[in-house]
Order: sequence, then C-alpha cells, then structure tokens
Amino acid sequence: MRIKENAAARLKELGVELRQGVSLVVKTSLGIGGATDELLLRRQDAIPEAMRLLADQNIRHRFLGSGTNVLVADGELAWVALHLPSTQPGMRVEGNAVYVDASADLGGMVTFCAKRDLGGMEGLIGVPGSVGGALRMNAGAYGMQIGTYVREVELYRAASGEVETVTGNDIRFDYRHTSFAPDDVMLRVKLELPSKPFKEILAGIRVCNEKRRASQPLNQKSAGCIFKNPQGGSAGKMIDELKLKGHRVGDAMVSDRHANFFVNAGHASCSDMLKLIDDVRERVRGAYGIGLENEVIVWQN
Ligand code: EPU
Repeated sequence: MRIKENAAARLKELGVELRQGVSLVVKTSLGIGGATDELLLRRQDAIPEAMRLLADQNIRHRFLGSGTNVLVADGELAWVALHLPSTQPGMRVEGNAVYVDASADLGGMVTFCAKRDLGGMEGLIGVPGSVGGALRMNAGAYGMQIGTYVREVELYRAASGEVETVTGNDIRFDYRHTSFAPDDVMLRVKLELPSKPFKEILAGIRVCNEKRRASQPLNQKSAGCIFKNPQGGSAGKMIDELKLKGHRVGDAMVSDRHANFFVNAGHASCSDMLKLIDDVRERVRGAYGIGLENEVIVWQN
C-alpha cells in the first residue's frame, strides 16, 4: 500500500518518517515478504493522532517489531508497516525494577540487566527479536518466560485510542500467548528481576547458548519454531520421527538440524512456506492425530 501525499504531509508534521516501497524481505528473519510503505513513529505522544489519521484515511497497517516471528505475504502488500525506532531505546534500573522500551533488542536487555546483577532471563539470551515482540507472545525458553517478570506494560490501545498502563496482574501470560489485543502496541515495560551475581548469570547464559547452538539452525533464515508444541509433546520430535528433515517446497525447507525450524534456503516465497507448513501439519495429523498450531504469525494481504 502506498501513502497518498496529503496523508504523508500530515504524518510528517507528527514526526512520522515515511519510507516508500520498502521490501519486507530485508525486515524479517525469514527473508520473505512483499513491498509496502513503512512509517517510523519517532514520537510516542503523536501515536494516537497518527493512528486516527490512518483510520480516517482507511489505511490498513501492521506493527512490525524485529520481524523475527512473522511470515509476510508476497507481492504488493495491502497494508503499511509501522515501526518504532530502535536506535538508543531506553533502559533504566531502579533497585530490582527495570524499565525498558519495547523497541529494545531482547538479548541486549538480558545482558544490560545481567551487568547490573539482575537475572532470571538467561533463557532468553539467544531468542532473536524486540522486547515488544517478546511481551506480545510471552517469549520463553529453557523453562522460563518473560511474563513471569512483567509488572507493568505501557501500550497504545487501539480500542480506546489512548496510551494506557496495564499492570502485570491484569495480563494473562500463557504458553506463547497473551491476553493483549491483536492491535495493542507495546511501548514500554517494567520488569521486576531477582538479584543474582553477574558471574552466575553469565554461567547460565553460556549453558543456554551452548544448548541452542547444538540443536538449532542459528545461521539460517528462520522464524524460530514454526509450530507451538502440543501439550506434553514436541512438534520437532514428531516431525523428525516422520523423517521430514530436509523436506521442501521450493526454497522453503524443514531444517535438517531442528525439525520445528522451517528455513528459507534460498529465495522462498510466502506461498512456498505456507504450503510446507500445511503439508507438514497434515502429515503430523495423519500420523499422530494432533493438529499443530502455528507459532509463527502469518500476515496475509
Ligand atoms: N527433537 C528431535 N528432533 C528435532 C528437534 C527436537 O528429536 O529435530 C527432540 C529433542 O531431542 C528433545 C525434544 O524433541 O527431546 C525437544 O526439543 P528441544 O529441546 O529442541 O525443544 P523444543 O520443544 O523443540 C522448545 C521451544 C524453543 C526453545 C526450546 C528450548 C517451542 C515451540 N519451542 O523447543 O523455542 O528454544 O524449547 O527451551 O516451544 C521458539 O519458540 O521459536 C523456539 C525456538
């Protein structure tokens, strides 16, 4: 979708930067996606008005964080991509409380806290993505999840058109799922972390890094795990047992390292990846009677 001149002029007054015809191939970890205009929202106080303007002009939009858990449609996209600037995101510590901007890098936040003797999040160290994305889907690994430590979230709530602060008790954090509305925009979080000596945190981080390196295709284009694990089971184990490692549709391929990672082994399209996802889901259903649910978020046109 392309922004018309009159809307672009008003957005500029609100401090919103317009980048025209951006390919989402370079904005997503899968390296898949069509082209659209991108709007960079530099001023948080201008977000409500910018959002009203988009609604008035019938401009559909989606918020793109680091693009590490999305599969974006091919071709000319019917919506614009909104983005919060991620240069110099705010991170501040007060006792055991940490205030972090949603645009911050997740791994960067873990090390920032570790250096201040605040632990608990070691498992998240190798998870690619932004703090906002991690909050939205309650990112977790190696027995922990970010939701455990959330005390407050500042967000733009599309339903009210306002910036609001929600307390941790009012948010449900489930396995790779939260009670945030799909159009809530994460802006800032307050976490409360346990005190831990830096050396101890570092040792934990090393263990997680090693486990990840030993089992996941870290140097290939992926969105992490494609499917959520079914209760009490492992999607990767089932797909592996079906001998589907290396199975492909075009350049979309089941990783030969971890079967729940689907990688872009060249120039995969969204449609290739969707066909591969459906094919594997059906094979697992046929063999185990289990309908795997996507973990990756699919943004169709
Ligand atoms: N397994 C296989 N073959 C494979 C992959 C896994 O046999 O190709 C087996 C493993 O040997 C193990 C079991 O399946 O016995 C579980 O595998 P693993 O420890 O790799 O964990 P997972 O359940 O596949 C989950 C998360 C990962 C997270 C790891 C570590 C989900 C969908 N995946 O993977 O998160 O990093 O645990 O905590 O919950 C993600 O969410 O994108 C993600 C990568």
